[in-house]
Amino acid sequence: MGVVVSLDKARGSGPGLKPLLDLVENDMGRLNELIMSKAESHVEMIPKLARHLIDSGGKRLRPVLTIASAQMCNYDGDDHIPLAAAVEFMHTATLLHDDVVDESDMRRGRTTARILWGNEASVLVGDYLLGQAFKMQVDVGIMDALSILANAAAIIAEGEVMQLAAAQNMETTEDEYLTIIKSKTAALFAAAAELGAVVADKGESERAALRSYGQNLGLAFQLVDDALDYSGSAELLGKNIGDDFREGKITLPIVLSYRRGNKQERDFWKRTLQNGDLRDGDLEKAAELIVKHEALGDTQQRARHYGDMAKDALAIFPDGKHKSALLETIDFCVTRKH
Ligand code: IPE
Ligand code: IPE
Ligand code: MG
Ligand code: MG
Repeated sequence: MGVVVSLDKARGSGPGLKPLLDLVENDMGRLNELIMSKAESHVEMIPKLARHLIDSGGKRLRPVLTIASAQMCNYDGDDHIPLAAAVEFMHTATLLHDDVVDESDMRRGRTTARILWGNEASVLVGDYLLGQAFKMQVDVGIMDALSILANAAAIIAEGEVMQLAAAQNMETTEDEYLTIIKSKTAALFAAAAELGAVVADKGESERAALRSYGQNLGLAFQLVDDALDYSGSAELLGKNIGDDFREGKITLPIVLSYRRGNKQERDFWKRTLQNGDLRDGDLEKAAELIVKHEALGDTQQRARHYGDMAKDALAIFPDGKHKSALLETIDFCVTRKH
C-alpha cells in the first residue's frame, strides 16, 4: 500500500513545518473546504481524478506560505484564503502535467492519475484546475495578485519546456539548471509568498522581501528534491526514487558528477542519460558515482546557500512567531526527507 505524505507526517521531529502549520491552523479548514469545492464539476471524471490527488494530502506548503505571509503583514480580511487555494491549484495542475511529462507512476504515495485515467485525462484535468485557479483570483479581484499568478503560470510552463529541451543533454551547465528550477519551481514559491504582502496592501519593500524569500526558498526546495531523487526514501517522499535518472533529466547531482568524472564515467552518463540505454544496476551505479564525486553534499550545500539568502530576505520584518516560523520553514526545506 502506498504511503500518504500527510500533514501529520509533516509535523515530525527536527526542523519542520509545525510552527508554520500551527500559525495557519484556523485558516486550514476553510482552505481545504475551498480546495475540495473548487475541484467539483458536473463532468464526473474531473472531481474523481482531481480528488485522487488532492485527497492524498501533499504538504500544502505553498498556500500555507501565502497565509502565513499575509498574517505577518497584519492582514485581517478573507481574501488570502481563495488566493492560497489558487496557488495550490496551480501547483496541483503542474503536478498532473509534470507526471505525464516525467512518466511518473507514483505521487503522494499513490499511483499517479495518469496511470489510472491516462495521460490525456491528466493533462485536461490539470487545465481545469488551472482555470479554476484563475476564476478564484478574478473573484478576489486584486489586479496585482492576478498579475503575479498569471506571470508565474507562464514562467512555470517555460521552466518545464526548458527542462524538456535540456533533457538528455550532458552539456547542460549549472547555470542553465538554475535557470530551469528558478522558473519551474521557485516562481510559484515567490508568487505564493509575495501574495501575502499584496493582499495586505503592503508596499514594494515588503513585496520584494517576501518575493525574494519565496524564490530562494523554492530554489533550495528543488535542489533538495533533486538530491532526494537519488538518495531519498520512496516511502517518505511518496514518489519513486530514480524517476529523474530514468527520464534522462539533467539535475545538479548529474551536472556535477558528469563534470567531475573521468572518461569512463562520462561514457556511462552518456549511455544512460543521453542515449537512454538503461541496464540493470545502472541506477545503483549512478548513485555510486554521485556519492564518489560528493555531488549530493554539494547540491545540499547550494541549497543551504539559497536558504541563507531566503533568511536574510526576511530581515525587514519584525521578530515574532511568523518570522521565526518562516525561518524554520527554510531549515525544513533544506534538511527535508519528504
Ligand atoms: C513537488 O512539490 C514538486 C516539486 C517542486 C519538487 P511538493 O513536494 O511540495 O509536493 P506536495 O504538494 O507536497 O505533494
Ligand atoms: C517539479 O519538478 C515539477 C514542477 C515544479 C512543475 P520534478 O519533476 O522534480 O518534481 P517531482 O519530483 O516530480 O515532484
Ligand atoms: Mg516530476
Ligand atoms: Mg523531483
